[in-house]
Amino acid sequence: MSKISNIKARQVFDSRGNPTIESEIYLEDGNKASAIIPSGASVGTHEAFELRDVENKKYLGKSVLKAIGKVNGEISKELTGFDIEDQKKIDETLIKLDGTKQKKRLGANAILSVSLASCKAAALSKKIPLFENIGSGKTLPLPLMNIINGGTHANNSLRIQEFIMRPDKAKTFKEALNICFLVIQKLKSLLNDKNLSTNVGDEGGFAPSLASNEQAIEIILTAIERAGFKAGTDISLCLDVAANELFKEKKYAVNSSKFISLEKTIEYYLDLIKKYPIKSIEDPFSEDDWNAWINLTKLVNKDIQIVGDDLFVTNKERLLNGIKSKAANAILVKPNQIGTLTETIEVIHLAHQNSYKTIISHRSGDSEDTFIADLAVATNSSQIKTGSLARSERVAKYNRLLRIEDELGNSVKMAKV
Ligand code: PGA
Ligand code: ZN
Repeated sequence: MSKISNIKARQVFDSRGNPTIESEIYLEDGNKASAIIPSGASVGTHEAFELRDVENKKYLGKSVLKAIGKVNGEISKELTGFDIEDQKKIDETLIKLDGTKQKKRLGANAILSVSLASCKAAALSKKIPLFENIGSGKTLPLPLMNIINGGTHANNSLRIQEFIMRPDKAKTFKEALNICFLVIQKLKSLLNDKNLSTNVGDEGGFAPSLASNEQAIEIILTAIERAGFKAGTDISLCLDVAANELFKEKKYAVNSSKFISLEKTIEYYLDLIKKYPIKSIEDPFSEDDWNAWINLTKLVNKDIQIVGDDLFVTNKERLLNGIKSKAANAILVKPNQIGTLTETIEVIHLAHQNSYKTIISHRSGDSEDTFIADLAVATNSSQIKTGSLARSERVAKYNRLLRIEDELGNSVKMAKV
């Protein structure tokens, strides 16, 4: 058992080039560990609060110096001397010290950086792998690989934010990545053949200037086929609509720039599902349009995974609402939407107890920190969403999972969906 001797934060940068916070925990036994916090572009209203220095012109309002001040000041003072193995007490203390519902006083970025760094420091102190310190799970998640980017993550005219493939039949994580690699290479040459850009967007997927959602889906299906796989059996298609960004006065602009009624939007989704091997849709509706969610979830029965990201924001109360009203059947889990590891794990447990699938997720602004890879394994989450096989901050998570798979040897399990 070792105690915290000091906590120090600094400003570093994320994959979009924006400032973010890194906190470092020092232990009395000489160990130290740090964590870097990611940041989203399509941020839900109900997410925990990210503290930025909006009035500081030097970094165009994006610096996190205030959050750093909170860590170096009151948080470090409060937690010095705490037992590093008591994650729950550390997190509860952070929540209490902040004292607000959305972690507005200290900032969820400040709080989470300390929470995650604590867990890493405890693992070092106990000389066990990080995933083992998070939980008892040993399941490698299926990657939900975002291979074509649209929406706010790209400069093209695609309405839907993420066109994703999931290698459903992969028996190992290694095999899952091999399948994704082959499809991505085919997709790249298909785009090249059509003189479309193969530059990648924020999450490593291609961001070609395609005219419609359907065009993006069709080209992915061709790539899957050319790579020698069967769409719908070997690999399924998944979408993240990020509909918050496409919602105005009760209408949605999901299929074109024209806003259409909710009924027509639901019809559009049902048509897509009928026409294409789509198995999962994330954020089909806006974050407070509960009835729309309830309707679609009922209509697709259990055949399609309906994933709440901005709807649930990794928040237990909102997930409970969803469970009671049957508003979805899966939850996207982003630790920085809620702000502590303990709360994140509680949400995952609540989801599993109610047969909700959990998908651990990166943010569009991310870093070399690979905590979410360990989190996915330790919590037996069936899926992880961490971009395409490009950009080091995305690939770092996949590489970490490959190492965990090796480390677990025979005790490893591959997730099934
Ligand atoms: P964000 O998007 O990190 O930009 O919020 C990711 C997602 O919507 O899943
Ligand atoms: Zn999303």
